[in-house]
Amino acid sequence: MLRLSKKVQSLPPYLFLEIDKAKRKARQEGRDIIDLGIGDPDQPTPMHIIDALNQAARDPANHRYALDQGMPALRQAIASWYKARFNVNLAPDTQILPLIGSKEGIAHFPLAFLNAGDISLIPDPCYPPYKGGTILAGGSAHLMPLLEENNFLPDLKRIPFLARKKAKMIFVNYPNNPTNACASDGFYRELIDFAKRNKIIVISDLAYSEMVYDGYKARSLLEFPGAQDVVIEFHSLSKTYNMTGWRLGWASGNPRLIAALAKVKSNIDSGIFSAIQLAGVAALSTGQDFTAKMCQLYQERRDILVSGLQSLGWQVTKPKATFYLWIKIPGSSDSMSFASRLLKEADIVATPGVGFGRYGEGYIRMALTVPKERIREALERLKKIS
Ligand code: MLT
Repeated sequence: MLRLSKKVQSLPPYLFLEIDKAKRKARQEGRDIIDLGIGDPDQPTPMHIIDALNQAARDPANHRYALDQGMPALRQAIASWYKARFNVNLAPDTQILPLIGSKEGIAHFPLAFLNAGDISLIPDPCYPPYKGGTILAGGSAHLMPLLEENNFLPDLKRIPFLARKKAKMIFVNYPNNPTNACASDGFYRELIDFAKRNKIIVISDLAYSEMVYDGYKARSLLEFPGAQDVVIEFHSLSKTYNMTGWRLGWASGNPRLIAALAKVKSNIDSGIFSAIQLAGVAALSTGQDFTAKMCQLYQERRDILVSGLQSLGWQVTKPKATFYLWIKIPGSSDSMSFASRLLKEADIVATPGVGFGRYGEGYIRMALTVPKERIREALERLKKIS
C-alpha cells in the first residue's frame, strides 16, 4: 500500500467528523442524544430562499458549468449587503469572490501565498481549517494562544521576531468560534498596523457577525482605515440564514488577494451551481426581522443554558455573540474525557476544547442548536451526573 503524503499524514482527524461518528453510533444504539456539538442551526432555511432555488433549478440556463467568478447578480448582492450592513464599499468585480462555503475558501487561501517553510499565525483554539489549510499548502503554523486573561485576543506583541519575519498570513475570527469573544476596535487597529509593518496578510473569518445579543453590533475588519490593503474577509450564508448544507459563502477585500484565491480555485472547482447562487441573492435580500428573530431565539436558549449551568456551579458567562458557550470544565477532568463522559452518562454531545487546539484544553463548547425544552432536559441530565 502506498503511504499517505506527509502533508495528509500530518493533518489531524477532522474534529466534527469524529464527533459525528460517535453521535451516530450512540443514536444507532437507540439513545436519545441531545446534540450541542457542531454549530449547525436547527431551524429551516427561510421559504423564500427555497422558492428561489426551486425556480432557478427549473431553468436550463442554470444547469451548465458556472465557470466564472460568481454570477454578477450575486456579487452585486454581496456588495449591497456589505454597504448596508457595514457601510463598506466593495467593487463587485474585483473585491468579491463567491465560494462553495467559506470553509473551502479559507482552506484554499494559503495555497495562494505559502511556500515551504512559510508560517501562518494561527489563533489557538480555532476553527480547524486554519491549520488544515496551512498544512496542505506546505506551510507551518505558529500558534497564538487565546487566553481568558487577554479576552481571548492574540497578544501580537508576544509573537517572536522570527515567526513575524517568516509569517505570510495571520488568521483572526471575531466574533470567535469557539470562545465567543469579540474584538475591540483597538485590537483591529493594532492588527492592521502589525500586518502592514510586517507585510502579512490578514484573514478575517466573519461567519458569526450576525449572531449578536444585548445590543452588541459586530464590525467588519474592512471598516477600518487601511484594511483594504491587507485584509481578505470571509463570510458565509450558513449561520445567518440557516443554510449550512447549501454551501455558499464569499471572500471580500483586497483585489490582489481575491484574484489569487480565484486563481487557485479555478484549478480546483468549476464554480457554484447557478441556482444556489440565485438562492443566495434571495437570501441576502432577507430583511433584518429574520435575523432579529433568530438572535432572539438563540438569546432565550443562551439564558436558560447559562443560568442552568451556573446553578450547577459551572463557570460560564453569557456570550454577546455567536451561538457557542465556552465552558470551564468543572473538576480536574481533561476535555476529551469530560466530553466522553457527557456522551456516555448523559447522552449529551458537546465539543471538547482541545479539539480546537491545545489552548482549548480545560474547556468544552456547547452550541445553542436545540430547542429550549431539550436544553432544559440537558440540564436535568447534567444535574444527575454533577
Ligand atoms: C463549528 O461547529 O465549529 C462549525 O459549525 C463548523 C463549521 O462551520 O464548519
